[in-house]
Amino acid sequence: MSKLFSPLEIQGVTLKNRIVMSPMCMYSSLNKDGMVTPFHMTHYISRAAGQVGLVMVEATAVQPEGRISPQDLGIWGDQHIEGFKLLNEQIKSYGAKSSIQLAHAGRKAVLDSNIYAPSPIAFNESFKKPNEMSISDIKESIEAFKHAARRAKDADFDIIEIHAAHGYLINQFLSPLTNKRQDQYGGSIENRYRFLSEILTAVQSEWDNPIFVRISTDEYNNEGNSLEDILYFTSEMKKQGVALIDCSSGGVVPAKINPYPGYQIKRCETIKSNTEILTGAVGLITTGIQAEEILQNERADLIFIGRALLRNPYWAKQVADELNETIDPPTQYIRGWR
Ligand code: FNR
Repeated sequence: MSKLFSPLEIQGVTLKNRIVMSPMCMYSSLNKDGMVTPFHMTHYISRAAGQVGLVMVEATAVQPEGRISPQDLGIWGDQHIEGFKLLNEQIKSYGAKSSIQLAHAGRKAVLDSNIYAPSPIAFNESFKKPNEMSISDIKESIEAFKHAARRAKDADFDIIEIHAAHGYLINQFLSPLTNKRQDQYGGSIENRYRFLSEILTAVQSEWDNPIFVRISTDEYNNEGNSLEDILYFTSEMKKQGVALIDCSSGGVVPAKINPYPGYQIKRCETIKSNTEILTGAVGLITTGIQAEEILQNERADLIFIGRALLRNPYWAKQVADELNETIDPPTQYIRGWR
């Protein structure tokens, strides 16, 4: 049997295969209310019917001011629980597990309201200049992640992913490029990690299931976090009980990136072997052979698929055929599956 289609147990949650629907913002909440819509139901449930092992709901704002856009999904209030609960019931009915990416955009929010960040530096000239966060703003954001975790539990998610990548709020604290603070949340690497560390502790006070963290393993800037810095963060996360590091890159400051098939896997592999922690590989992975190579050579434990799953909700079936694997369809489709 291929490794791609073999199950993996992660801290008590068993995924039926190693394919994860990568989190992808759909900017499809209506009325600026962050609620799940019929579009989200169709979008996520069809990938569960398509037999991915883990569906990950897109970056979902823990505070309204943490949205990238007014159309982002939200989990800042109890009114959001019911929609996610209905979504999860359906996702699970197809044998997939369900996860949600908890996010805060910080200085990358494109909203009419004031925005904030660790330091008052705009991403570029088309973004607003953020206000510098006070200690009470920081504490409020940490609390917001904690309340979001409780709501995620009430909505029956199996796994939480914390979005600490792509230059959003947590990444803005981690990176010396965006964090110029002089207090306990800035300066040394220990101080830059403090915000994420406190978020993890707060989330864990409400949440016993696995936690994944998505990070930018490369900032594509010589003044940014080095590989050594990244390995410090991942070893701290391991000590705090994080189950898996989802290894993405970029987005911290404007930079030139040269994406090629598997372009983020090198650092993913280094983190896996150095920190001895589970990792997720993502980025221009499009074939079964490619995914299988990554897993068999122990470069990652899960394969996150983004755009290939937008193009084909049945990507799992396509690569099962490619790898000569037989996977079960939703029962209704049995007569048309092979
Ligand atoms: C993304 N990506 C992304 N990443 C993330 O961590 N949270 C998010 O909400 C989003 N939103 C998003 C929307 C859309 C439309 C795309 C295409 C991408 C990044 C995504 O999860 C993935 O890391 C990249 O797309 C690279 O993987 P693929 O697409 O090459 O498989």
